[in-house]
Amino acid sequence: MHKVTINGKTEYAENGTLLSDLLISAGSPAEHPCGCKGICRKCTVSVNGKDELSCQYKIISDIDVITAPPEAIYSETGAAELHTSCESICCRTHDVYGILI
Ligand code: FES
Repeated sequence: MHKVTINGKTEYAENGTLLSDLLISAGSPAEHPCGCKGICRKCTVSVNGKDELSCQYKIISDIDVITAPPEAIYSETGAAELHTSCESICCRTHDVYGILI
């Protein structure tokens, strides 16, 4: 179990958990227009001061995460797509407008 600090709030994750999955379960909004294929970079967050793609980042140690404020994520592109091929829970929790459901 690893300690993950998200914008100052402490969460815990099993070894190997995808960071995007933890962020969604912790209530942090995110956009994943490429279906978590590591292409769009819309899921970029700061991990220990370094930019990382949350959909590609597996948690294997204690980390400190800073996410963009929600208004910065949603103001740029509007609608997101439904990602039926994505295995991550992030894409199963958004409707076609990118709103958490
Ligand atoms: S790079 Fe597109 S959702 Fe992560």
